[in-house]
Amino acid sequence: MTVEIKRVAVVGAGNMGHQISICCALAGLETSCIDVSPEQLQKAESFMKKYLPERVAKGKLSEESARQAEARLRFLDSLEEGVREADFVIEAVTEKLDLKKELFRRLDQLCPPHTILATNSSFFVSSLLAPETGRPALVCNMHFFNPALVMKCVEVVKGPHTAEETAKAAMDLALKMGKKPVLLHKEIYGFLVNRILRRIMDEALFLLDTGVASAEDIDSAVVNALGHPMGPFTLMDLTGIDLSYHIAMERYRETGDPADKPSPAVVEKYVRGEWGRKKGRGFYNYG
Ligand code: 3HC
Repeated sequence: MTVEIKRVAVVGAGNMGHQISICCALAGLETSCIDVSPEQLQKAESFMKKYLPERVAKGKLSEESARQAEARLRFLDSLEEGVREADFVIEAVTEKLDLKKELFRRLDQLCPPHTILATNSSFFVSSLLAPETGRPALVCNMHFFNPALVMKCVEVVKGPHTAEETAKAAMDLALKMGKKPVLLHKEIYGFLVNRILRRIMDEALFLLDTGVASAEDIDSAVVNALGHPMGPFTLMDLTGIDLSYHIAMERYRETGDPADKPSPAVVEKYVRGEWGRKKGRGFYNYG
């Protein structure tokens, strides 16, 4: 049975979740943005209150659309309240498998039976989460890119448990948000984009770690020779060095190959808490 998606809940108001929530609200969906941290919710709401008027001032959004989007978006600390009437949940919490499993167990209990449960994880496939629920056919990956308000691509990944209609609903939802979704017919570590990106990141880190060139010069070369919008170190600062660390650790746990461990530069930044823009310092200093 196909249900029209009208209400979406985004769980996690962090780097990705707060922007995914705004995308949903702008697409005309009643949206709950849920987080356990009051600070994170406050930050997300402040961002929305600044972002929408800026779009209006830039002439990219009508005042009426901004007003309606704001009215459609609720920031909540109660999972129960936020997902009670949701047709579709997008999980965007920290990349910790146990946390996600526990959350999927709770979502399964709290959501209506028809609700689709999608994870925005960068690397955990949904078959790790589907068995935690009584609705595996309604579970899939829906992976957005940072900054989610800007990047058009969304990867929808079908697991062996995912129903065709579930993948279609996720694709349709992404289209409704003005995205250009791509469908992966089977699960694979890193999906499409992070597999390709990994080759670039690994090479950039190798060149930095072996002292061949500075982060600034590697970035400059990638921007000015390859035409990428930003270099790999600027991008890691944007997406979060903590995420780069966890992605590599997860890869290493899977393969056991020491070559897959996070690079020394990433470990150093991770341990120092210099995780990029969100911490004010990463490969670059953001004051
Ligand atoms: N949030 C919301 N909007 C933003 C933004 C942000 N953080 N940063 C920039 N924008 C918007 C601006 O408002 C502007 O919008 P407009 O053109 O409609 O007015 C537009 O993006 C362009 O911004 P700027 O002119 O300030 O800057 P740039 O032209 O340099 O663009 C960028 C910034 C969009 C971030 C661009 O540099 C870019 O595309 N970088 C590559 C990003 C990328 O590769 N993302 C994928 C990362 S991998 C990932 O997310 C997967 C995960 O699993 C790790």
